[in-house]
Amino acid sequence: MVRAMISSERDLQALDALFADRQERWWDGFYTQRAKPVPFFVDAPDESLVEWVQASHVAPGRALDLGCGNGRNAVFLARAGFAVEALDFSATAIEWAQQNIAKAGVSVQLHEASVFEWPGPAQPVDWVCDSGLFHHLPPHRRAGYVERVASWLKPGGMLALTCFNPEGGSGLNDDEVYARRTLGGGLGYTEAQLRAIWGAAFEVLALRPMQAHPKEAQVFGLPFLWAMWARKPLTAD
Ligand SMILES: C[S@@+](CC[C@H](N)C(=O)[O-])C[C@H]1O[C@@H](n2cnc3c(N)ncnc32)[C@H](O)[C@@H]1O
Repeated sequence: MVRAMISSERDLQALDALFADRQERWWDGFYTQRAKPVPFFVDAPDESLVEWVQASHVAPGRALDLGCGNGRNAVFLARAGFAVEALDFSATAIEWAQQNIAKAGVSVQLHEASVFEWPGPAQPVDWVCDSGLFHHLPPHRRAGYVERVASWLKPGGMLALTCFNPEGGSGLNDDEVYARRTLGGGLGYTEAQLRAIWGAAFEVLALRPMQAHPKEAQVFGLPFLWAMWARKPLTAD
């Protein structure tokens, strides 16, 4: 229903305006409270990203971390030998990421921008990591996001996505999201929904619940999150 209403970027922005929560300023406040017991306020990368970067046997090239937060996955990718760009629309997230990157002694090019306003990397990348951004997008932004991510990857490039499963999400369906004008803290997806949304542009290589790890572990994982590994096809159909 919503899809039929969208014919331009202006329509998308009008729909964005319905949602006042979880915009840049909200995330700015969120990242100033670094002592809060937020599960992903850790130094450790996603266990799934670590597993799949190792499993892919692809020589490190260029990588992009979308919605990088404190930079924990960007730091891992840089340590693994990638030339990394990381983006977040929250200034306080970028500030924290900058500090973690300096502490780790690695190099990451940071961008403070919305994924929908950023022009994209200078060159197509080999890996994209999205841990926790996609489930904060309203339904009318999904298709455009998938297209953007695909367009920023090389043919054969990899995507590692971490997002809420139904247990982790707010429980709101798309109609309820528009009726209530909120995502309720993030949307949970079923396996079938993820395959339908991402399968349009990607070949799904793995889709599984994240493996749980304690907060002190070297890697991050929580069981109410999906971990999806997908590849952009080598040739367009
Ligand atoms: C749940 S947090 C995850 C942060 C980080 N990836 C991690 O796992 O530690 C989601 C992040 O996405 C960012 N974000 C949400 N929507 C965004 C958008 N449209 N453009 C850029 N960043 C966005 C938020 O500022 C926040 O840092």
